[in-house]
Amino acid sequence: MRIAFFGDVVGRSGREGISRHLPGLRRRLGLEFVIVNAENAAGGYGITEATARELFDAGADCLTLGNHSWDQREALTYIEREPRLLRSLNYPRLARPPGRGVGLYETERGRRVLVMSLLGQRSMEPILDDPFSAADRELDACPLGQACDAIVVDMHADVTSEKMAMGHFCDGRASLVVGSHSHVPTADAQVLPAGTAYQTDAGACADYDSVIGNEKEEPLRRFTTRIPSARHKPAEGPATVCGVFVETDDSTGLALRVEPIRIGGRLIQTIPEVEAVLERT
Ligand SMILES: [Fe+2]
Ligand SMILES: [Fe+2]
Repeated sequence: MRIAFFGDVVGRSGREGISRHLPGLRRRLGLEFVIVNAENAAGGYGITEATARELFDAGADCLTLGNHSWDQREALTYIEREPRLLRSLNYPRLARPPGRGVGLYETERGRRVLVMSLLGQRSMEPILDDPFSAADRELDACPLGQACDAIVVDMHADVTSEKMAMGHFCDGRASLVVGSHSHVPTADAQVLPAGTAYQTDAGACADYDSVIGNEKEEPLRRFTTRIPSARHKPAEGPATVCGVFVETDDSTGLALRVEPIRIGGRLIQTIPEVEAVLERT
């Protein structure tokens, strides 16, 4: 099965990038399931029903969130009505957050994909419960290759070591563990020894003539003068749509192959060649 995960969609630029490029990527790569991190979709802060609908209309099957999940108040009620939208899984039990942090979805071809959204603890606000224990419970409850055909884990975290540790922790039990939140794609896509595809960060779907998706002026002012003078605003140039492509083995659900995707905007472009895979398999 061919799956793609796209990193944090930042504002209008990111949404337009997804609308422009995702339908073509779905066709070209034969994607059966697409996950998009949408925590910055609404003006850089959280998600609304209208912005979510743009991403679903473009071909997203599932949207994940992160530390910005509740920046827009309407997300608290919208998520109760939209099972394709996932907030972080590892809230403390007493928090009783709305919505869900894990979802089992069926593709058009009848295959089942489990998606899990985790929030890291290091250098992160809010600090939630241990994401490793939360992932362990869900992976035990839905064994890959038995209860589902693919498992994708979005490890939304700041610290690279925490994301990499999650990759190894899930190795052999998930199809893909991919980081989000950094807004910069990393160059470490690999299939881990026990068969889980991994990339430390998918990167953002955003204008990269920016500071992690925001207009440069205010971040530069804050770094140079230490005095904030305006809110951060998403940069509005053309987005580079950044994601990770994975192809899984139909019998085990483990990864045969993983590659980055970068299309549009300023970053060096890369799109997986799928013909080569067809020859091999
Ligand atoms: Fe983000
Ligand atoms: Fe984030």
